[in-house]
Amino acid sequence: MEYGHIPPSGEELVKEIERLKKERNAVILVHNYQFEEVQAIGDFVGDSLELSRKAASLDADVIVFCGVHFMAETAAILAPDKTVLLPVAAADCPMARMATAQEIRRIKEEHPGSVVVTYVNSTAETKAEADYCCTSANAAKIVQKIGEDKEIVFAPDQHLGEWVTQARRGNVTLWPGYCPVHVRLTVDDIEKARERHPDALVMVHPECRLDVCQEADIVASTGGMVRRVKELPAGTRLIIGTELGMISRLRRERPDLEYIPASNDLVCTDMKMTRLVNVWEALRDMKHRITVPPETAARARLSIERMLEVS
Ligand code: 13P
Ligand code: SF4
Repeated sequence: MEYGHIPPSGEELVKEIERLKKERNAVILVHNYQFEEVQAIGDFVGDSLELSRKAASLDADVIVFCGVHFMAETAAILAPDKTVLLPVAAADCPMARMATAQEIRRIKEEHPGSVVVTYVNSTAETKAEADYCCTSANAAKIVQKIGEDKEIVFAPDQHLGEWVTQARRGNVTLWPGYCPVHVRLTVDDIEKARERHPDALVMVHPECRLDVCQEADIVASTGGMVRRVKELPAGTRLIIGTELGMISRLRRERPDLEYIPASNDLVCTDMKMTRLVNVWEALRDMKHRITVPPETAARARLSIERMLEVS
């Protein structure tokens, strides 16, 4: 067996990350669901849309993406001249694998003339088949932009798709994908939390089931949740229906509000794979590089840029 050096820990580890970051001219992007220790060293912490925009506009040589694979892949598409690193190679969003490019090509054949919208939680190959990409922050706007006379194919998240197309009269085909974390939250959980905290507002992510979203007072992307709490009066109590990491982010923004998890089951194990030591290793060894074949990237970029123009 080979033994390496013992990695630094605590303050030493944070200092080492800072030193390597300067040496590599790197920027650390962190999703809202990451562990607090990782959020604390991030140059930018945000939702999928905010982080995509950042990746596209950064002045750096290296982007360390603390999130899951599709997020780093989107950054690699938007910043082809930069090295994009995902600290834990296995950190992936299971929903992103629920619709393959081949399946999207088949559904397009079955629905000729339809407009294909793919949620950003998808692979680059799937985005390359789409007319529009969207995130949970702008999906409603993108759907509104598409004329009612057009049929929409929405993939892979059936729940986000159902939420943002509810008012639409035209035809909508929803791909049967789902987030295995948000789908665990039920109306029963919300009712029980409301019974215990009758004065609290319920805020959920639109990846939750439609009946859960309909029960909520606020339905928002993780970035939208941050914006909403900034507007609330001190002391407001909120029942939070999304990945539990979000509560630390909200607490940092508004420590004077009270946050109650709608369920203690809402943990995304992929988002929780990244620890500080992985960020340090990523910068030290320049791993794991995320790249997208140029032809796929060029096609996927069209649907992502169309999204960025709308929102
Ligand atoms: P946001 O774009 O709202 O941050 O959501 C990403 C995600 O994976 C939610 O599960
Ligand atoms: Fe994917 Fe759900 Fe995890 Fe978000 S919370 S990364 S949608 S599995």
